[in-house]
Amino acid sequence: MSTQLKKVAILTSGGDSPGMNACIRALVRSGIYYSLEMWGVVRGYDGLIQGDYQPMDLRSVSNIINRGGTILKSARSEEFRTEAGMDKAYHQLKQRGIEALVVIGGDGSFRGAFHFSNRYDIKVIGLPGTIDNDLNGTDFTIGYDTATNTVVDCIDKIRDTADAHNRLFFIEVMGRDAGYIALHAGIAAGCEDILIPETKTSIDDLVDNLKKGRSRNKTSGLVIVAEGDEEGGAYEIARKVQAQFDGYEMKVTILGHIQRGGSPSCFDRVLASRLGVAAIEGLLEGKNRMMAGLINNQVVFTPLTQAAKNSSSLDHDLFRISKILSI
Ligand code: F6P
Repeated sequence: MSTQLKKVAILTSGGDSPGMNACIRALVRSGIYYSLEMWGVVRGYDGLIQGDYQPMDLRSVSNIINRGGTILKSARSEEFRTEAGMDKAYHQLKQRGIEALVVIGGDGSFRGAFHFSNRYDIKVIGLPGTIDNDLNGTDFTIGYDTATNTVVDCIDKIRDTADAHNRLFFIEVMGRDAGYIALHAGIAAGCEDILIPETKTSIDDLVDNLKKGRSRNKTSGLVIVAEGDEEGGAYEIARKVQAQFDGYEMKVTILGHIQRGGSPSCFDRVLASRLGVAAIEGLLEGKNRMMAGLINNQVVFTPLTQAAKNSSSLDHDLFRISKILSI
């Protein structure tokens, strides 16, 4: 491994996700293991611009592997989209002699990282931190597993009250452009129907399905809706269904940001730990403008330009399974 690299900074950017702290810990610990000086940047690219940096030692990441959120805070920076903002960020890094940056975030964060590294002599590695699971170059993003389990836990609770009152619930989950959370949680929680942005939603088909369930003596039901569905959010869809079908009393629950918080699952902690170490080792091998991800349980580096939003790996066969099991 090359020994030229001396100082590396880490930041978390965009929507936070459970496991970001485990990832920060892995980066700091493995960086120090390889004799690097590690810096944390507070509030993502905004902190990078404003000079909000803190030295990270071994103990600065103690007792965080189990914590949700991010000790480095996160932000969506408008200023970093501008050349002036990037210039300021570069000077802040140069002033401290920092030569490389690890960005834990999603699609938008990677785009910023790519342009930055293209423009200046700063090496950049991306790590997939988003609950949406919608990136190329990794089978799982850090936080997706925890978020999906949170959703399943919530829907299990909703099922109890839905059953007690013979009600139909429309449950909205996160996923502005992606249906991974809805599809997987929808199967795991036994929902009657799953509505996601990647597939065409037909209110008529949904109503038909609900009517069939009612005629087969279903007394309550659960429909999971990804927030980005083309027919609207859960309130809108409930209103459209209600106009055609009065077989149930209908209720709506928006799970919202509860899905982003909480202690990361074992899976997310291990994923974050593996990718954190991989990022440092990748930098030491000279990798640049790449995202470290996990494909078929192997660490794989993908150019940041290709690690953009992706929903093509969504397993459409899961819909078939869900239809069979929800009759
Ligand atoms: O973290 C990704 C995501 O959860 C999207 O699914 C969602 O649309 C978005 O973040 C909302 O984030 P915020 O409320 O922080 O803008």
